[in-house]
Amino acid sequence: MDVLEKQADRLYDDKKYQEALDIYLSLAKKYPKTEKYSIYCGNCFDAIGDTSEAIRYYKKASKLNPVSTVSLLALANLYYNNEDYENAVKFAHMIVKKFPDNASAKLILGNVAYCQRQYEKAFEYYNEVYAQNKKSYIALINMANTCYDLARYVRAVDYATSALKLNPASVDAYIILGNSYLELNKTEKAELNLLKALDFKSDNPWIYNSLSRLYQKSEQWEDALNFGWKSVLFAGDAQEAQHINFGYLLYECVDEKGPDVAVSYAKKWQEAYPKNKLVQYMAAAVLEDKKTKQADTEYVKKIFDAFAEDFDETLIGLEYQVPQLIAEAVVKYFKKDFWKKTKYLDLGCGTGLCGQMLKPVLGYHTATGVDLSAKMLEKARAKGVYDRLENKEIIEFVTQDTGQYNLVTAGDVLTYFGDLKKLFEGVAKVLNLGGMFVFSISENMFNDADYSITPSGRFVHKLDYIMALLKKNGYGKVAQDRKALRNEGDKVVYGYIIVAEKSMIIEK
Ligand SMILES: C[S@@+](CC[C@H](N)C(=O)[O-])C[C@H]1O[C@@H](n2cnc3c(N)ncnc32)[C@H](O)[C@@H]1O
Repeated sequence: MDVLEKQADRLYDDKKYQEALDIYLSLAKKYPKTEKYSIYCGNCFDAIGDTSEAIRYYKKASKLNPVSTVSLLALANLYYNNEDYENAVKFAHMIVKKFPDNASAKLILGNVAYCQRQYEKAFEYYNEVYAQNKKSYIALINMANTCYDLARYVRAVDYATSALKLNPASVDAYIILGNSYLELNKTEKAELNLLKALDFKSDNPWIYNSLSRLYQKSEQWEDALNFGWKSVLFAGDAQEAQHINFGYLLYECVDEKGPDVAVSYAKKWQEAYPKNKLVQYMAAAVLEDKKTKQADTEYVKKIFDAFAEDFDETLIGLEYQVPQLIAEAVVKYFKKDFWKKTKYLDLGCGTGLCGQMLKPVLGYHTATGVDLSAKMLEKARAKGVYDRLENKEIIEFVTQDTGQYNLVTAGDVLTYFGDLKKLFEGVAKVLNLGGMFVFSISENMFNDADYSITPSGRFVHKLDYIMALLKKNGYGKVAQDRKALRNEGDKVVYGYIIVAEKSMIIEK
């Protein structure tokens, strides 16, 4: 073996990738037909973050030795790690075509399907690997995890137990067992497994999060908050998901037990993360802070991006009525001579439920949707009921937009605003004379304030405040209907569907 090659291999094993790369590059130049040098150049480029060079060298290696799977597998892995699933699948399939039993390629195909939430397909790939090799821990743990996502908890327990036999120190197996037993309401077994997972990995925020869910489920609120707090501490600022979970936990605690315990955690949380806007907003909601006038935009983006995938399905479960009620109000009050040429604007359109309801009713001329969450907009786009979708903050949009509309809706959106002055002014600006603004508000039944933030992070409003503000902004005829809007936990949220017609122009 070339002395230089030995030196490069040693540097590579010591993770000194840049130094190793310099030598491998010179070797690859000297011996252009040697597959190994191209592969190691690719590995080093990948390790130092130069993906396009890594790809170039792997492709070169694959041409040098077309029957080898090494470079193809490296390519599939690299694309998978960079979330380029199309190319990851392309190269994994090239391997499977040549070598139908190649487990590594099948695992990549399974992982891609899993990341795309195609859990049945993912399970099939993992199962094929397992069928070929009953000692494959990786296949078993992936099967267990996928069964958990498919809500097949008993099978998840079986596969995780088998995985544990092959790898008794598997933290993942203990976590899957704990979470699955939790779903099966076997609290003692769940606790045992999660505590075991904690023995192996005491800094994993997800384990604390699962234990927190477990104690919440058994109404041990002190423990639930204590473990929730630890999940936040171990997550730091980086893992926002843990902060969102903790915020919901505090809200649910206030809802079930009253504010006492949750409030002290909310204060502590606010102090510990002074620069984290999401934390500041969620804590302010739990503390029902009167100074807060609007939901933080980062908070809105994050929670709705996370919620987008399951939004429509979840809202059916919450008996969400608003889009239907808005459509009924439009049919009842919207001027018939506008119907054929409706220029429609849907503020906070989300996944497009209002647009979807109104399209068959109005067959509108043009429809524009505006929302802060890109993921919600993706869902709206797929429904094909809007001509234009804008990923913008509502007030910013109505202030800058030069369009004129004759119908504006906002379904369950004003609940993310306390003070509505700017929003009503902005909508009046983009609305034609005689045009209508149809929206819902949640009713403030808790205190005398015009608007009030609630621990769930949503605002509630007084009807008198809304009416006065509409009048001030040139809205004349107004109709309002008190309705049940949706459920929140085991309570019904009441509010109003308001129809306001712009009847004069207010000069500013
Ligand atoms: C509860 S969803 C309602 C979605 C839709 N209107 C419906 O009825 O199904 C609220 C939507 O308002 C959006 N939103 C809240 N505040 C916003 C703001 N300031 N600017 C833009 N979009 C906002 C959220 O991203 C979310 O998609």
